[in-house]
Amino acid sequence: MLPTTINNPTNDEQQLNISIFNELCQQKNEENTYPLAQSIENSIPIYTGKDLRLSFKSDMTQDYKNEFTHIFKEGPGVIVIKDFFNNKNDIDHMSHIFDELLKQQGKGAGDHFAKDGKNGRIWNVFEKSAMYDSSSFIQYYKNPLLQMVAQSWLGPNYQVTTQLNVIYPQGKAQQPHRDFHLGFQENEEIKRYPLHMQKMSQYLTLQGGIAHVDIPLDAGPTQLLPFSHQYDLGYLAWRDPLFIEYFKEHYVQLPLNKGDALFFNPALFHAGGENKTTNINRNVNLIQVSSAFSKPMETVDLYKIVLNIYPELLDLYQKNLLSGLALDSILTASCDAYSFPTNLDTDSPIGSLAPKTVKELTLEALTKNWDLLTFKYKLLAHQQNRQS
Ligand SMILES: [Fe+2]
Repeated sequence: MLPTTINNPTNDEQQLNISIFNELCQQKNEENTYPLAQSIENSIPIYTGKDLRLSFKSDMTQDYKNEFTHIFKEGPGVIVIKDFFNNKNDIDHMSHIFDELLKQQGKGAGDHFAKDGKNGRIWNVFEKSAMYDSSSFIQYYKNPLLQMVAQSWLGPNYQVTTQLNVIYPQGKAQQPHRDFHLGFQENEEIKRYPLHMQKMSQYLTLQGGIAHVDIPLDAGPTQLLPFSHQYDLGYLAWRDPLFIEYFKEHYVQLPLNKGDALFFNPALFHAGGENKTTNINRNVNLIQVSSAFSKPMETVDLYKIVLNIYPELLDLYQKNLLSGLALDSILTASCDAYSFPTNLDTDSPIGSLAPKTVKELTLEALTKNWDLLTFKYKLLAHQQNRQS
């Protein structure tokens, strides 16, 4: 039977409710829900790499994957895997590449999550490390545990992106946040997405981090709020002072050793911890694994399209023949209106977390009356800046 009225859930900051959030975050894992975990600390199931590697021989891999899926979806949202790397040389070789790449890059590379100099960041270190040293890259990324955990959330196929994040001694904690996709957008933009899309976005990515050094509690392992990914309005909540306060009172941290990893639902509230030490560079290789489904069916060159239709668009715009709504519609259809994927070295966002889109650029061109040559020049620069 069809409902007589359509009642879409409301999607704005007025609906934020800290009691509902609290109820979700106060959940505890039922006993024996995760029998394969070695232990559960602060509500976070902990697995050993050794057990997971043994599962490949004992046909238990799917059982582990089923537990992970449940944890990321209905459970606390986060797991730790001790000895994710059993050969620490693989970590050391990659750490060496990170050091060399940091030296090459020098100071001043953008990190929009921390004050200058307190954080080190290598964007797209996945590709950079592959280009720098293929043998170390292969040793590191042939780790079958990465595939196992990624497949538990995303299915057989996926795309890996990684960034090095270093919190230097005395580096402050990050603000709590959610991660890519909507963790990179401002509230006004988030609200334009219906609530089901906000919730769905967490199924498109798995977030993780691999410890490249021992990270005791005072070196600031990631602060985590188990179960917080279950709050539907969470993308609008993480900037709210009440929720920030709640996070600061309730987050948990687990110390990590070199070669350990943690993985979590990208909607989980979390923050890089404060590094209170004087001598530990807290190096973590941050991982997002993206669903194969975050792609369209056909390869379409939107740059080519918008460049080709620009003279006609400009003409219509100048003659007032394109209303606001029609203009918006044609631009959304013919331009990439989303900021990602991009190259965060050369296309750093200015004043926000998300770089300028082709749609925004084209709108600027029309309103400023750029001729075709100027538009072409700016468009090509935009395209170039986004390439790796
Ligand atoms: Fe994050």
